[in-house]
Amino acid sequence: MTDRSMQASARACANIALAKYWGKADVRRNVPAVPSISLTLDQLVTETRVRFDESLGADVVRLDGRRATVAEAERVIAMLDRVRREAGLRLSAHVTSHNHFPTAAGLASSASGFAALAAAASAAAGLRFNARRLSALARASSASAARSIYGGFVELPAGSRGDSDLAARPIAPPGHWNLRLVVAATEPGQKKVGSTEGMERSRKTSPYYHAWLDQAPRWSRKIKRAVKDRDLDTLGAAMEQSTLAFHCCAITSDPPILYWAPATLAALATVRGLRERGVSAWATMDAGPHVKALCGVGDATRVRQALDRTPGVTRTWMAKPGPDVEVHR
Ligand code: DP6
Repeated sequence: MTDRSMQASARACANIALAKYWGKADVRRNVPAVPSISLTLDQLVTETRVRFDESLGADVVRLDGRRATVAEAERVIAMLDRVRREAGLRLSAHVTSHNHFPTAAGLASSASGFAALAAAASAAAGLRFNARRLSALARASSASAARSIYGGFVELPAGSRGDSDLAARPIAPPGHWNLRLVVAATEPGQKKVGSTEGMERSRKTSPYYHAWLDQAPRWSRKIKRAVKDRDLDTLGAAMEQSTLAFHCCAITSDPPILYWAPATLAALATVRGLRERGVSAWATMDAGPHVKALCGVGDATRVRQALDRTPGVTRTWMAKPGPDVEVHR
């Protein structure tokens, strides 16, 4: 029989990095080598339920109604093992997770996924972790997930080798600044290289990786200041530099990783064109071809319409600042 208290669910939102994380100081502990800053987004939500159950012989992991692949299950079980160690627990777990992302978005969900899993698994195991410990736990699985524990504007400092409790911290709540992020999904380009693999290849082979490590903290400081000052032009310009610089590391890796599709460049040109017409809209991309444009609430419809008309953009939607992770028993 399962103790009803050995189950919990959690809801976490994805986030977009304004200052980008790319590269690890400690691969085994998953510690970022550069500081990053993000905005948590409503709309893009993962809901995860965890039940520790003495009748199970092994962990069961179901994602969006199907059995997880071996690689997906391994990452989930690594998190469950960390939680079991902390709680002194031996029971296997049943995990179900649903992404409430607009369909066909083609966007990664590891940030919201591991934030929700860290919160649900630790609550189900009876651990009363505060947000800081939850963030460190999520970070060990996926560093961007550390940021999704908090709503609004969040920073994750760089760490160093041997760090095991590095966590994100909030900079400002969602209500601080009513920005919009317009996501433009594009046709896929080359086969995807995951961010973990992409940043490792950059670290080992890109001649520009050290220049990136040198510069990234400056952009991050500038972006943090601009968030506090609600200065979109300064934030946007530094966000674009941070984005293009980490893509430069990826492109100059061996073998090269080019995340962009033709529609990526078309969407970047759309955002630049809007700026030439006086709209403060700024682009960023992650480890994929999609373009995300940051703008003020008053310009959001115009930015979205322009991206909707861009050749190769398959669909768009809009997100606004989202809340902290929520846990339910
Ligand atoms: C390009 O957090 O997915 O989206 O820690 O290896 O799981 P791991 O990497 P992940 O990397 C995200 C990289 C990025 C930029 C960012 O979100 O900061």
